[in-house]
Amino acid sequence: MFQWLSRPVTYRETLEGNRFEPARADYYTGRPGNSLLQLLQARTDFLSVWRKSDFAEKVSSVRILGRQIVIVNAPSEVRYVVAKRHDNYERKSPQMRRALEHLLGDGLFISDKETWKDRRPLVSDIVHKNRVPAFGPIMSGTAGELVQRWRSLGDGASVNALTEMAGLTAEIISRSVFGNDLGEEKAAVVTDGFARYQSLIDSVNLGYFLGADNGLPVRRTPSLRRSVKRIHGIIDKVIEDHLAGHGENNSMVDLLIRRQQRSPELKLDVVALRNEAATIFMAGHETTAATLTWAWYLLSSARWAEEALHAEIDSVCGTRAPTVADVPGLNWCRAIVEETLRLYPPVPILARQALKADRIGSVDVQPAALIMIVPWLLHRTETLFPDAHHFRPERFLGPERPTPYSYIPFAAGPRVCPGLQFGLSESILCLATLAQHFRVRVREGHKVAPQCRLTLRPIGGLPVTLHPRRAATA
Ligand code: HEM
Repeated sequence: MFQWLSRPVTYRETLEGNRFEPARADYYTGRPGNSLLQLLQARTDFLSVWRKSDFAEKVSSVRILGRQIVIVNAPSEVRYVVAKRHDNYERKSPQMRRALEHLLGDGLFISDKETWKDRRPLVSDIVHKNRVPAFGPIMSGTAGELVQRWRSLGDGASVNALTEMAGLTAEIISRSVFGNDLGEEKAAVVTDGFARYQSLIDSVNLGYFLGADNGLPVRRTPSLRRSVKRIHGIIDKVIEDHLAGHGENNSMVDLLIRRQQRSPELKLDVVALRNEAATIFMAGHETTAATLTWAWYLLSSARWAEEALHAEIDSVCGTRAPTVADVPGLNWCRAIVEETLRLYPPVPILARQALKADRIGSVDVQPAALIMIVPWLLHRTETLFPDAHHFRPERFLGPERPTPYSYIPFAAGPRVCPGLQFGLSESILCLATLAQHFRVRVREGHKVAPQCRLTLRPIGGLPVTLHPRRAATA
């Protein structure tokens, strides 16, 4: 359970032949400590507060400043929380709601009850797997542009892979949500605004632990207000243009507006449309950027997996650019992405607030308790994933799938990520397009350390060098 660290966090990484254990914080081994200090530690470093014994199938409960926290780390109880008793646990944690409400309003990601019920089918339909082929050309085209830019930098060029992947996925989601007419400059303002917003909000809402069941509003500093105002201003203008008939057909905003026009009872005004567009934008690019960044990190050390990946891309695509139609044939690529999502789930904590008293496994749950399902723990539980800390994409190659509710990078149950197929296809396609042309190597001597904020990222990004695999092809 949470422990206060009286020592600095250390990160381990080992590579012996084909056995690669990528970066993670060492288990905590000291004495249990003061709960306030535990909470403060979790604010900055949530991944280093776990003992070895926490990586086990169980449900446990702890109190911090009088607030009950229940950690659910067993597949059947995960199913109970996210699916069977969804009605009691559908509500996001006050931390998540407070952190994002200023930016997303009542957007799907943080809404519940009737608003969530009304909007969920609308948003799911827009990012549904049947629509992925239509967005495929945006994905492969944008990744292809990045190939050209990387080529222009020359062999051995140094870049930060996290920044590069964030730029790539932001461009893809921006063109998908708003159409091409947002323009590079405005797209950059929106992307920077989102990044800035995230850096300004805290990862723990202390008010909730001090007794406020709904947490306390995040302080709206002038800087926070400015980022929000800029983002809202640009999105509102796109929506107003679309409403006036000047927007690009088949962008997600356009689909949202057409759905609203067909179902006026949904009463989606400009603000509601903006909230959903902002939600899709935010939920749809950070996560994919983190996935791709972690995949480059893993492949940089796991040369046997990289070789298998290259062989597959060469045999499936030859020298032509991969397209969305190739995705079902890119089995290694998919396995690498799935194993990356297991080891480094971009959303490493799914936090909910219990509505009424209940019992999860053998633990009595109080109303307003914080329920935490932690994919970071679940995915690294040895009884569910043998060699749990090791990078073994082979485990996703065969027909066997992980135990239901043990592998949940996209969550599960009624609140499962509606962009699952979009995000998976995008990750596979971008990885294939870039790996067709480049080897990516973590800069020599750089120590990778994962850090959990809203998403799981390497601290300071991922400094890498780029190495063309062969001369440019058509
Ligand atoms: C690798 C990529 C992705 C990962 C790992 C991921 C993961 C997740 C997870 C874990 C949740 C649930 C969070 C929670 O319950 O607390 C979620 C929700 C959501 N995701 Fe994704 N996501 C990805 C890509 C996308 C994409 C590409 C889109 C849109 C195009 C998207 C749209 C959404 C939306 C709208 C929600 C809120 C759903 C609801 O609350 O009903 N995601 N995602």
